[in-house]
Amino acid sequence: MLILAFESSCDETSVAIASFEGESKKVLSNQTATQIAIHALYGGVVPEIAGRAHIEAISALTYAAFEEAGVTVGDIDAVAVTSEPGLIGALLVAVNYAKAFAFANGKPLIGVNHIRGHIAATYYEYPELKPPFFAMVASGGHTSLIDVKSPTEFVTVGRTRDDAIGEAFDKVARVLGMPYPGGAEMDKLAYEGDPHAIRFPQAAMQDSLDFSFSGLKTAVINYVHGKKQKGEEIPIPDLAASFTEAVVGAVLRNLEKAHERMHYSTLVVAGGVAANSHLRRALEGFSKKRGITLCMPSKPYCGDNGAMIAAQGYYEYLAGNLSDTSLNARPTVRNPIKS
Ligand code: KG4
Ligand code: ZN
Repeated sequence: MLILAFESSCDETSVAIASFEGESKKVLSNQTATQIAIHALYGGVVPEIAGRAHIEAISALTYAAFEEAGVTVGDIDAVAVTSEPGLIGALLVAVNYAKAFAFANGKPLIGVNHIRGHIAATYYEYPELKPPFFAMVASGGHTSLIDVKSPTEFVTVGRTRDDAIGEAFDKVARVLGMPYPGGAEMDKLAYEGDPHAIRFPQAAMQDSLDFSFSGLKTAVINYVHGKKQKGEEIPIPDLAASFTEAVVGAVLRNLEKAHERMHYSTLVVAGGVAANSHLRRALEGFSKKRGITLCMPSKPYCGDNGAMIAAQGYYEYLAGNLSDTSLNARPTVRNPIKS
């Protein structure tokens, strides 16, 4: 079957067409327009501007997706769209576009949870991947540890209590003078510094699988302010490397704790921050040592994209989780992905 999928939950508008036949999953088109340059002027995503930019982009991306995929509206079997969680004004754009498209063309409509979508992005490049598995979604808005019981059954077992991991990267990058979003730039800069130059405090969560990154972020900010007050030079590469080391350490500690508790044999790590090369390397070492099969989407499938929504949409469709024109956007979900 062919699924047309829309994503507009934050600052990327994306339209994808993907085909699903038995075990085979193929992306025919994944057209994404990023708003990064617009929001960089303000140092972060401005929700009102994001909504307007999605409106401007979504039609052209849809035409481009059909052209690239070489299919027509009649070939589409279902329409999937991110309906939660995200910025309400941003989500509403794709939700309404998808609803209108589905209604006008008589196609089934599927509302998809964005975090489920990040995990589903992994299926394209790992055709043998099947739940049950353990997953971590690390993005600008979320840091969650999830027990994936089936393609549509998820239990969140750990989450951040404050900043998301990508948010911490971006805020530290901003203090170090990098443009928004600084995550990818921090990744490069960390190669030039000493990861052991500065020891930052780590939040200890005892028995919990939750994360906390705001203390670490504040420690970096205080360090920078202290240096500025003394008129000393700020060791930017060392800070990037030491901060990254602390973040990677926190992730590994929780994954280790979860492994001891739940004995998972397959680990999926997805979301924008899964593109971080230091984290990827550390995860490879961690998994190898413990005999865990590690699955991480390639970088283009880590960030927000329509193809990931198509993949999760496919499983929601198979499970009969269909929506109708009463589908609404939800900015938050109580337990983001507990079925
Ligand atoms: O998943 P995503 O595209 O959007 C959300 O759902 O939030 O994630 C975006 C986040 C941003 O915070 C960005 O700085 C971060 O992912 N990011 C990175 C890297 N590439 C993107 N963080 C660290 N290292 C990277 N290489
Ligand atoms: Zn995302």
